[in-house]
Formats: sequence, structure tokens, C-alpha cells
Amino acid sequence: MFSPMQDRASAPVGVTLPLNLGLNDGTYAPQRCIDLLRRYTERTDFRNYSSPDNAPLREAIAAADQVSPEHVFLHNGTGPILKLAIPYLLKQRVLDSPRRVLRHVVKRDGFPIITPRFTYSKVPKKAAEGGMHVDMLALDPGDDFRFDVSRLERRLERGAGLVYIVNPNNPTGNVLVQRNELVPLLERYPESRFWIDEAYVQYVDPNTHDYFASLVPRYPNLLVSRTFSFAYGLAAVRIGYLLAKPSFVTDLERQLTDYRLGTLQEELGVAALEDAEHLPFIREQARVGREQLYAGLSRIPGLQTFPSQANFVLGRFTDGRRGAELKAKLHQRGVAIKVFEPANGQSYDAYFRLTLGLPAENEFLLAQIAEVLGSKASVHASLPRPTSAPSR
Ligand SMILES: Cc1ncc(COP(=O)(O)O)c(C=O)c1O
Repeated sequence: MFSPMQDRASAPVGVTLPLNLGLNDGTYAPQRCIDLLRRYTERTDFRNYSSPDNAPLREAIAAADQVSPEHVFLHNGTGPILKLAIPYLLKQRVLDSPRRVLRHVVKRDGFPIITPRFTYSKVPKKAAEGGMHVDMLALDPGDDFRFDVSRLERRLERGAGLVYIVNPNNPTGNVLVQRNELVPLLERYPESRFWIDEAYVQYVDPNTHDYFASLVPRYPNLLVSRTFSFAYGLAAVRIGYLLAKPSFVTDLERQLTDYRLGTLQEELGVAALEDAEHLPFIREQARVGREQLYAGLSRIPGLQTFPSQANFVLGRFTDGRRGAELKAKLHQRGVAIKVFEPANGQSYDAYFRLTLGLPAENEFLLAQIAEVLGSKASVHASLPRPTSAPSR
């Protein structure tokens, strides 16, 4: 959360300030989750522990993602999983080979992380802080941040590493890699590990993009992480999981205790996965929200946006202004957005990322941006009609 504002804008109906559009939190939870919570009415309802290994949720995830429960490692969000599993995996891979140990001692690159540059910065940053080598493959804004998989292959020809790809990517919002592009690499580079972070994948229609999760049982060098924080609108509940080969799941389990996720997390996760109407509804909400932001932002001069398939939109000033200035001005009005630190010597000063909110929040955000940037253009004209929340 961010600190109180100095110059609070008056909030219209449907908007509560402060409004955090900087962390990509989702919007609606599945209706089944809300129905489930209504069943808790007694003071004795929470007296018992959950199941020790959260078997009901692991089984529900396994069924949804076409893997077996032994492939599922559950934790309180994918943030903690990345923090635990990546250093462990790198260490394991380095210690596996005397040649890698030597390289690690001499150049810190026994088993480097290989990742596109402009991505979820916590992973490369934490790896670099932990003394691991990070190889970044630059994405070109002039090409809408498209990822050239042949460059990744050329990099892998020079040596193995952990490939970390957020798909669709944060903060650019585009799908970086398709199944038919990655599968040949999974087969050709068995010594490398491929971690696909599908934190936002549920925003992409599975009829237009094959998710990676169901490939995990076939490829022991593939790991896929998922979260309930975004498309399921459950960031407050903290549920994330990793799909990986069973021996890696067992190794991670050994480092933590049982009863990790409470009954509420477990039951809400199962209810979310059972709600067949939720994801189609959320995809439509996100599509309308993106159009709303694109339409509003296109009326502001000196500003460019990039095509997103997720619940956020990346913007860039093309006239020398800085994302941090916009952030500071919006902060004073009670709205938080995201800006970026330099990565590997590359500055992202001109960029900012806006998380989609509810329709009224998006409209409020656009009005505030237009005002603080001194744009006379009305952002309200010809906005797409947002659909309302489903009532059941
Ligand atoms: C790409 C990506 N992965 C993982 C996370 C962590 O999410 P959570 O810990 O809520 O599952 C985030 C959060 O912003 C993210 O953007």
C-alpha cells in the first residue's frame, strides 16, 4: 500500500481512494468463492487445521492443468515460490557438474539465468543479488517487445542455463513464446531448465494460445508457475503454485512445513477452479478495460501504448517526460501506478504501467492522467461500454 495523498481528488461513485493500480491485482473473485465464504457463520468454524498437504487443492489444480498431484507444489503466492525455488534450482544445477562448479567459482556463471530484458524484475534482481549471473536478451519496443526465439536458441547453444519467461510478459503484456516454438528447445536442450511464469495466462483465451502447464509431465526440464492473485482476483488470499517434476516438488516440500495453506485458502482455491463462468467473464472484462485505457490514452499527445493481453497496459512517453513524474502526480491524487528501475544499464524512465481496475476506476484513472498531464482532450468520449459484474 502507498502512503496517504496530499491532494486527494474527490472520488466519483464506484471509486474508493486510495486506488492501487500499481501491483496488477485482479478485479473480481469467482462468485463461487463468495458463496463459499457465506457458509462460514460460527465461531468454531476455523478451529481445525487444513489437510497437511492441501491434497484437495493439489488434486483440483492437477485436474484443471492435466498433470498429476505429485507435480504440484503449493505455497502462499508465486512470489515465495520464485524466491525459494530459483536459488535452489541454480545451486542444484551448479553442484551437479564439476565443470559448472569451476565456472561458478571463476565467473559466477555456472548456471546462469537467461531471461528477456524488460520483464518481472524481481527474478533477475534477486538472482544478481545472490551472486548469480543473469544473461538478458533485449526486447525491442520498436517491434512491440516481440521475443525472437531463435536468439534464445543461439544463446543456449553456447551453454545451459535457467530460461525464465513470463508469458504473457509483465510489464509488456504480450505473449512472448508459443508452445510450438518452445517444445523443440525443451527437447534439444535437456541440460537447461525452462521456467514459464504463467501468472497472467488466464487472461489469454486458451482457444488462441496453448498454455504450457499440461506439458510438465512430458518434459522434466520444464517448470510452470501460476497464481490466483490476478485473473482469479484473490491476491488477498495468497495462493500460488509451481508445476514441476515430482522429485523437484519433493525437494521443495522438504524445505518447508506441512499445513502451509490454511483451510480458507484451500477451499477458495478449489471453488475458484470449479467456477466455469469466471475466466470467460474476466477475459471479457479485461478486453473491455484495455480498450477503455487504449481509447483514453490515445487522446493524450506524446504518449505511446503497447498491445497487451493481460490486466495491465504499458505506456511510454515519447516526448521526454518521465514515468516517475506521472507516478508522483497521480500519487498526490490517491492513485498508484508502476514505474521501472534501470535493468542491465538500460533505462526505462519513459515507461509506466497501469493495472486495469473496475470500469469506473479506469475512467477515473484516465481523467486524472489527462488532468495531471494538462491534456485538454476529453478521455470520456466514445469509451467502450463496460459490462457489469455477473449476479447469480
Ligand atoms: C510475473 C509475476 N510472477 C509472479 C508474481 C507474484 O505473484 P503472487 O506472489 O501474488 O503469486 C508477480 C506479481 O506481480 C508477477 O508479476
